[in-house]
Amino acid sequence: MTDVLRPDQRTAPAGRRRGWPPRLDKIAFGGDYNAEQWPPEVWSQDRQLMRQAGVTVATVGVFSWALLEPEPGTYDFAWLDEVIDGLHEAGVRVCLATPTAAPPAWLAARHPESLPVTRDGVRLGIGARESFCPNSVHYRAAAVNIAQQLAYRYGEHPALALWHIGNEFGSHVGACYCAVCATMFIEWLQAAYSDLAELNDAWGTTFWGQRYGAWNEITPPHPAPMGVNPAQQLDYRRFSSDSHLACFIAERDAVRAITDAAPITTNLMVTACQNLDYWRWAPELDVVSNNHYLTAEAQSSYLGMSMSADVARGLSGGTPWLLMETSTSAVNWQPRNIAKVPGELRRNILTNIARGADGAMFFQWRASRFGAEKFHSAMLPQSGTRGRIWNEVVALGAELARLDEVRGTTVAADVALVWDWQSWWALELEYRPSADLGYHERVDAFYEALWRDHRTTDVVSPLGDLATYPLVVVPSLYLTTAEAASNLRLYVEGGGRLVVSYFSGIVDAHDTVHDGPYPGALRDVLGLWIDEFHPLRKDESVELDGGTAGRIWSESIIVDGAEVISRFTTGPDAGGPAVTRHRLGSGEAWYVATALDVAGLRALIAGALPTSALSPAPTGATTGAVAASDDLEVVRRAGADASYLFLINHGSESASVNASGIDLLTGRAHDSSVPVAAGDVVVLRERS
Ligand code: GAL
Repeated sequence: MTDVLRPDQRTAPAGRRRGWPPRLDKIAFGGDYNAEQWPPEVWSQDRQLMRQAGVTVATVGVFSWALLEPEPGTYDFAWLDEVIDGLHEAGVRVCLATPTAAPPAWLAARHPESLPVTRDGVRLGIGARESFCPNSVHYRAAAVNIAQQLAYRYGEHPALALWHIGNEFGSHVGACYCAVCATMFIEWLQAAYSDLAELNDAWGTTFWGQRYGAWNEITPPHPAPMGVNPAQQLDYRRFSSDSHLACFIAERDAVRAITDAAPITTNLMVTACQNLDYWRWAPELDVVSNNHYLTAEAQSSYLGMSMSADVARGLSGGTPWLLMETSTSAVNWQPRNIAKVPGELRRNILTNIARGADGAMFFQWRASRFGAEKFHSAMLPQSGTRGRIWNEVVALGAELARLDEVRGTTVAADVALVWDWQSWWALELEYRPSADLGYHERVDAFYEALWRDHRTTDVVSPLGDLATYPLVVVPSLYLTTAEAASNLRLYVEGGGRLVVSYFSGIVDAHDTVHDGPYPGALRDVLGLWIDEFHPLRKDESVELDGGTAGRIWSESIIVDGAEVISRFTTGPDAGGPAVTRHRLGSGEAWYVATALDVAGLRALIAGALPTSALSPAPTGATTGAVAASDDLEVVRRAGADASYLFLINHGSESASVNASGIDLLTGRAHDSSVPVAAGDVVVLRERS
């Protein structure tokens, strides 16, 4: 196998990205501008209101293919000329989207085979968006063509700041199962494996007599009478992610061949989209951009916003990235679309800026009156300029302008969290030891524990550079390659503190169990082995000495070099190890064998952190005295000349932090203690 997990494909090659768009020379603030939904009379009002709100950039054209190319090879750019020229005159930069997420009806009419097919064999229709198979030659050629036409027409336009290819690749149609994809899958496999014997071996096809005697016998993982080979499913996910990436690259390269004036991106959905392996995508983007929408009903929904921002920064290798889309208030697609409370929009956006975004944009500028998204909030909502949201948007635009000096600075992280799409895929295939195992569940719990301790987290790939972090957490890295295991081991030997949760290090890239006993990939580094998994019943919990409790998981651990820090006192493994520590080289590898709650994880992390990282406390507080509630978000961005402490109080109590400097939002100077009222935000330029 040559094509799946090569280390050089998992991290961004240095210097390859062109980086932040030079023409976005202020903090980017704006949104998707679907001007085509409105008569031209509205456009001048839009421009005037954009100026009023401090909008610096607008994304145009995202779904406008049918208007730009009403018939194949016939173009109408007049309306877009007017929109782009108008924005330019108004001093608003343009993020120009290729409209290829919404193929025109003529494509499906002429080439019905360009429509995607679901796993159940249903060919999807038109009338929505993303109605294309990523491997359709007809789609690909037409998409590249319209991208080229846009590049010829607008490539050197002075307003053009950034190219935005397609939209949220793979979000609705993660994988297509049409006949073309079936053939392309075989070609992908032929490139990935040296011969059929290697594939049979990697897929473990002696199981259930699945051995293939010829390449053309292999199919996509169609529904079958029983669970389909997990290695086949994983390769189909890789193939599908690569297929979408090939669409992006084809358009990107077509644009790049015509014009080099602006960087090129596409909007990722880093914590919401399971379908694409963004560690492979990120190096292909000039600048990383991310879409994140709150899970509005979740308690502390802001945690998801913070985590998404940290993953985006991780993909960006720590360089400035762009929040391409979020909502000003409610969305329209959740079961109950809860509106944001006053001040929540401001906190959400400043969370992203704190965590390394140099811009924040929305779906969308003006709320649609028709179509599926008319109940979605916007910068200019259905209530127009009379409502609360408009006032909050205008105030936010003014505040972002005050933060301009923060641009280009980088986030100072305290710890790292290992995140991996392939492990997410593999862990959530069928026939796992418990239906309660979930990748996001553990990642979210560890992330929250770190967040509530005011520790800023970098998100890294399993093959990422870990050396600088005093602590690295590894939640449920079920799929752990030998390369990843060796990366973790080197980190510990070199003095790092590693905290690994249960169900990590179990299988390789093909869902084959590493040589037993569990956890084969991490046995040496953790200094233990597992005799048997003992998943818990629904709602069952087990107690640990020290007073914490765990859910979901228990297992019988035999230590082999590790020391026992804490034992189960109840449940199937009562008396056995629950938390262990293995000293290795000059570092330590900790292991936790159950789903501790956030409080339990906070205690565990406090134990695992080196004393030097415990006090003075992390990034957030210069003195270590974060006299703050655990609803206070504390993040520092630092540059050559100054550092900026973002204090975002998501709680209902006021908080304070020992620090000094000037609040860029109010101009107020603080000498030693910085109060942050409930719901408020302070951005302190710190006194050096
Ligand atoms: C995004 C998408 C936008 C809009 C938005 C609604 O996923 O890119 O076009 O549909 O969701 O929340």
